[in-house]
Amino acid sequence: MSGELSNNIRSLSIDEKEYDDFVDPWNVVSKADTGVDYDKLIKRFGSSKIDDELLSRFEKVTNKPAHHLLRRGFFFSHRDLQLILNRYETGKPFYLYTGRGPSSLSMHLGHLIPFTLCKWLQDVFNVPLVIQLTDDEKTLWKDLKVEEAYKMALENAKDIIACGFNVNKTFIFSDFTYLGQRSEFYRNVIRIQKCVTFNQVKGIFGFDDSTVIGKIAFPAVQAAPALSTSFPDIFGDKKIPCLIPCAIDQDPYFRMTRDVCPRIGFDKPALLHSKFFPALQGAKTKMSASEANSTIYVNDTPKQLKNKINKYAFSGGQATVEEHREIGGNCDVDISYQYLRFFLDDDDKLEQIRKDYTSGKLLTGELKKILIDTLTPVLVQHQENRAKITDDVLEKFMTPRKLL
Ligand code: TYM
Repeated sequence: MSGELSNNIRSLSIDEKEYDDFVDPWNVVSKADTGVDYDKLIKRFGSSKIDDELLSRFEKVTNKPAHHLLRRGFFFSHRDLQLILNRYETGKPFYLYTGRGPSSLSMHLGHLIPFTLCKWLQDVFNVPLVIQLTDDEKTLWKDLKVEEAYKMALENAKDIIACGFNVNKTFIFSDFTYLGQRSEFYRNVIRIQKCVTFNQVKGIFGFDDSTVIGKIAFPAVQAAPALSTSFPDIFGDKKIPCLIPCAIDQDPYFRMTRDVCPRIGFDKPALLHSKFFPALQGAKTKMSASEANSTIYVNDTPKQLKNKINKYAFSGGQATVEEHREIGGNCDVDISYQYLRFFLDDDDKLEQIRKDYTSGKLLTGELKKILIDTLTPVLVQHQENRAKITDDVLEKFMTPRKLL
């Protein structure tokens, strides 16, 4: 067994003994109010930290200041990013690959994190992007019928397009549609399935003897888009490596993919991992589409947004105004401040807010108002963009074709 897979299996047993955090593609739970210990997670998953040196190299190679999601460490971990930078520097092709498992009709704010970075990376590198909608995965894992998951995939595709992707460079596909459309994709699924045993997926994903067989076979479907030959319309039969931006919960899929790729003649995909956008109730869990009260959906109205933040956003402030003025608030656990770190790109303003809240000058209600004022235009803009996406636009994005 290769390094990455055996490392993962070993790490699961360490997890049970030593770690309080649990992270896999379906669950994220931490015991600490500050959320997952990401340094430990890097060690456990065997990925690499994105340090200042790598960020400087990124800025030098792309000749652009790093996006605030990189600069502020939300994208904190990677695998082989330096190889992608080498390729970019020497003019060699690569592509971006990301995805969404459609489990709700609307996406939530946390989903905007990988898609926002993807859009930025697409602009910076000017490379093709493939986006997989795993309606098959969500049918298997959730209480959803095939038709419902497919419908959600199409609705989510509109949310994704609303993030501003370039139609000439982006292919979005639903597994239910595309697997039947291009035999090359299915052939790659089988090549991957031939390399992975039940024992290995048990170790990586925690499957057991009562797991339905669709789940056991599914990881190969999420791995296949990392093989460029799965997209003959875009890449012909050329073997081109990819970079996968995602939150770190998806890493188990790609540890498996990286293990298999060299064995079937492909480069390992590179990865960029983000931290989790926390649930409204606090950083112990991630924001999740299936937990309505912990989640801000991108189609929430300004009123719903305001109510959810005022009612649910966990506060790091003190119980009374007097105490708060005296002791100050704790930004490390305060959800409004944490959300601002994702969505307020003005570093100076953010720092002033941090100082004022920590000193007690800024009260929780005032901080929540700043967050509401920051997020409202983000949601309104997203909803305006989405309203412009006609069925024709959707079809264009979802048609297999050559990308410029
Ligand atoms: P899904 O639908 O759970 O999530 C879609 C993307 O959003 C990330 N994500 C989050 N990021 C930050 N904070 C959160 N609270 C949060 N919740 C979700 C996920 O990591 C993911 O990047 N199986 C996948 C679909 C998929 C995919 C891929 C994802 C297929 N191929 C390639 C990434 C890359 C899924 O169910 O994602």
